[in-house]
Amino acid sequence: MLEIGRLTVRFGGVTALDAVGLVAGQGELVGLIGPNGAGKSTLFDCVTRRRDPDDGMVLVAGQDVLGLPPHRVAACGIARTFQHPAVFPRLSVRENVMTGAHRFGAGGFWRAAFAWERERRLRARADEVLDLFGLLPLGDHPADGLPYGVLKRVEIARAVAAEPRLLLLDEPAGGLGPEEALALAGLIRDLHRATGMTVVVVEHHMEFVLGLCERLVCLDVGHKIADGPTYLVRRDPAVIAACLGAR
Ligand SMILES: Nc1ncnc2c1ncn2[C@@H]1O[C@H](COP(=O)(O)OP(=O)(O)OP(=O)(O)O)[C@@H](O)[C@H]1O
Ligand SMILES: [Mg+2]
Repeated sequence: MLEIGRLTVRFGGVTALDAVGLVAGQGELVGLIGPNGAGKSTLFDCVTRRRDPDDGMVLVAGQDVLGLPPHRVAACGIARTFQHPAVFPRLSVRENVMTGAHRFGAGGFWRAAFAWERERRLRARADEVLDLFGLLPLGDHPADGLPYGVLKRVEIARAVAAEPRLLLLDEPAGGLGPEEALALAGLIRDLHRATGMTVVVVEHHMEFVLGLCERLVCLDVGHKIADGPTYLVRRDPAVIAACLGAR
């Protein structure tokens, strides 16, 4: 589903990613770990066309993503969340989630002729996802003013509403309390099982990734230092030195 080869990104003198390869098979749930500045978010930025790499390739379901214009990324079945929730503050929780589902609306003539029908369908889809995330009671609430943990869930709900085949989650448990994080891990596990989508999750919260992911990839200052089953990677001395030992 995702095939990254020799991905390289330089910021002036800093090499954020140095010829990194990463493969995620269809339906896999892969954890991407590594200390601050390892290049995890930069890798997501390349897959979602927010940033052009200096070198390398990115294929999603065999399609060359780097050849796509950025606005075609969602239509290609890729959705992501950001480390700091990027919701629309003035829109309600439901409207935020509806923006994720917009690719299912009809276009062109049908869009104009049946705008109300399109709106109804988007709402229905958004409400299903809101329900899954326990957000239905907050559907009409403006995103502005909601607690951070709720905004993180709204953002994930918006990404899921797009029904992606590849979901990239950047620190979904960041800033959440232990119970909230545990509940979120359960929700992601259920969604993954139910939909069979491919998920790559970046996270510093080790209990979260260790409990959730079958496979872990570890980056350290732009280099891949480990890639394998979770039970092996968590015991790898280089990984422990880079990120596990410090926590
Ligand atoms: N826009 C930018 N301009 C210059 N340097 C950048 C930029 N974005 C990232 N970097 C640098 O690239 C490297 C990788 O950053 P990145 O944000 O991808 O790391 P990360 O693994 O996501 O870290 P964190 O866990 O802190 O989120 C860091 O050295 C960072 O300072
Ligand atoms: Mg990051």
